[in-house]
Amino acid sequence: MIKGVYIHIPFCSLKCPYCDFTSFISFDENIKRKYVNTLLRELELYSYFYYSIETIYFGGGTPTTLDPYLLGEVIEFITKRYRVSSNLEITVESNPNNYSLSDFKVLKAYGVNRISFGNQSFLIKNLKTLGRDHTPINTLRSIENVYNAGIENINLDLIYGIPGQSLIDLEKDLQIYTDLPVKHISAYMLTAYEDTPFGMLVNKGEIELPEDDLLYQMFKLIDTFLEDRGFKRYELSNWAKSGFSCKHNLFYWTHREFLGVGVSAWSFVNNVRFGNTKNINQYIQMVEKGLKPVVSREILDEEKIREEKIFLGLRLKEGIDINLVADKDILSTFVSEGYGEINNGKFSLTPKGIMVINYITSRLL
Ligand SMILES: C[S@@+](CC[C@H](N)C(=O)[O-])C[C@H]1O[C@@H](n2cnc3c(N)ncnc32)[C@H](O)[C@@H]1O
Ligand code: SF4
Repeated sequence: MIKGVYIHIPFCSLKCPYCDFTSFISFDENIKRKYVNTLLRELELYSYFYYSIETIYFGGGTPTTLDPYLLGEVIEFITKRYRVSSNLEITVESNPNNYSLSDFKVLKAYGVNRISFGNQSFLIKNLKTLGRDHTPINTLRSIENVYNAGIENINLDLIYGIPGQSLIDLEKDLQIYTDLPVKHISAYMLTAYEDTPFGMLVNKGEIELPEDDLLYQMFKLIDTFLEDRGFKRYELSNWAKSGFSCKHNLFYWTHREFLGVGVSAWSFVNNVRFGNTKNINQYIQMVEKGLKPVVSREILDEEKIREEKIFLGLRLKEGIDINLVADKDILSTFVSEGYGEINNGKFSLTPKGIMVINYITSRLL
């Protein structure tokens, strides 16, 4: 039964040098209108699936580069055509400088009850290094606008491990983040993807990333600082006030079924993972012909599902069922070396383990 719907909006007002999400700079309102029409047609192609929808998530790209009424059309389509729960979580990812108070009011009227801001930092030097086009004031005003529109469930993204960032800089950010009336904080370690301008400069040695030891100190600082201020870590990169974990993202990590629509979106239905084309023209052409824009498909057998439960579950604070791992000795070794803990039949990673999650995952598969 499909629990969540993800909608990819691939438009941005600028391309950040570190970003490898499928997104394009566009200010063409006709293309945006056409894209939303295509999303609706794609959703129609999947109307035969079984739904019990609890979450809708607009991700990107930057969904708030679209007129809020266009996002509203997609919400209306889903809530009219599919079976949805009465207490839907509807999230919209937003840049801090896109929407006004009246735009957020429109979203609220369509049922949006969660806004996730790509803030990254409140320090101007970090925003400059990351090539962002907003200021701290933009974020503060946007938070106020979201609140005044009647939406209280706000997430702020934070990036750490930025070149030149110190522990003191990070602490300043954490202080500001936790002084604000937000319910959720996602903190991501800056990743230098090879095919991005940022990754290329790192490869050429023109930008230096922080040492592993500093990254570890940063993670520990984030974790203890946020926990002290009432934000509990429930996943590798996610902390929330009680009752405000992101239901939609938890579906991914707990292996629930979801449908993803739009360019580059992934789905998991009936033990099949399938992914859409990343090419927007191909996407529109295929859907216009009544074809699903799927270009990759993987059927998950029992062994593959066990592996996924391990690598997704290790991200969660609660960890994985120890019975997923045949060799229990290896779990005991990780525990004795301080990389993991076992509680109530579950194995979970400590901050030291999180730093080497890929290695630990490979040993447990
Ligand atoms: C798809 S973006 C959507 C938000 C919005 N477009 C923005 O950037 O404000 C989701 C989040 O992923 C994170 N992110 C993107 N690229 C990253 C990278 N290379 N390393 C770490 N985090 C990254 C950022 O925190 C960003 O806010
Ligand atoms: S980080 Fe966000 S705003 Fe920047 S290019 Fe990626 S999706 Fe667009």
